Amino acid sequence: MNIVLMGLPGAGKGTQADKIVEKYAIPHISTGDMFRAAMKDGTELGLQAKSFIDQGALVPDEVTIGIVRERLAKHDCEKGFLLDGFPRTVPQAEALDSILADLGKAIEHTINIQVEKDELVARLSGRRICKTCGTSYHLIFNPPAEEGKCDKDGGELYTRADDNPETVANRLEVNMKQAQPLLNYYEVKGVLTNIDGQQDINKVFADLDALLQGSRS
Ligand code: AP5
Repeated sequence: MNIVLMGLPGAGKGTQADKIVEKYAIPHISTGDMFRAAMKDGTELGLQAKSFIDQGALVPDEVTIGIVRERLAKHDCEKGFLLDGFPRTVPQAEALDSILADLGKAIEHTINIQVEKDELVARLSGRRICKTCGTSYHLIFNPPAEEGKCDKDGGELYTRADDNPETVANRLEVNMKQAQPLLNYYEVKGVLTNIDGQQDINKVFADLDALLQGSRS
């Protein structure tokens, strides 16, 4: 099962991706997570990505496409994969088509999680993430059982550096500009499925799961 999960910052891509990969046992490929891991390790890629991510800008296409190309060629993607946050621009979508053609693969589901801007701001400002396993929580919408601690492994919860109000405003602006041409790219091909992301987390997952189950029967 090869899946592309799109949506503006805070739409719930990471939250839903965790549930999908757990149920369908496919690798979760998040370009944002890959950049953050590289930043943590202080690699060349991390240093390069940091200068863009800190400002809420997109990392240049050629860098992002390069890491996705390398990742999709790995053995664990044979049984399927979920791309979270890639593609984000039309050139990235075109590059993905070409990477997959080279690998003899195709996307089965191109999904966009739709959420209004005001809700996105509220979600990002209250987000907390586990330092150990990366699970996302929200102070109001999806709180952990014990304040400041991850339900799964007790890890400490932190606020992402790019979730401050100025960076969030810029991230939303930058991503909204790219989103419509990208959605048009898939709409014209007739492969886009929009999912209402402005429902309870479990209801969003139920809609996604029904879609994915449909392709299995
Ligand atoms: P990335 O890490 O991908 O960030 P993003 O796209 O800004 O998305 P987020 O991770 O912020 O949100 P999400 O949709 O995963 O929401 P979440 O599930 O956490 O990218 C970071 C940066 O890397 C980018 O800004 C860019 O610089 C760079 N980058 C990455 N990919 C790139 C690319 N392809 N090209 C160029 N640059 C790239 O949920 C958010 C909050 O809402 C949480 O608190 C959660 O608990 C809560 N929540 C989730 N669902 C619901 C719900 N249904 N109801 C209520 N609350 C909910």
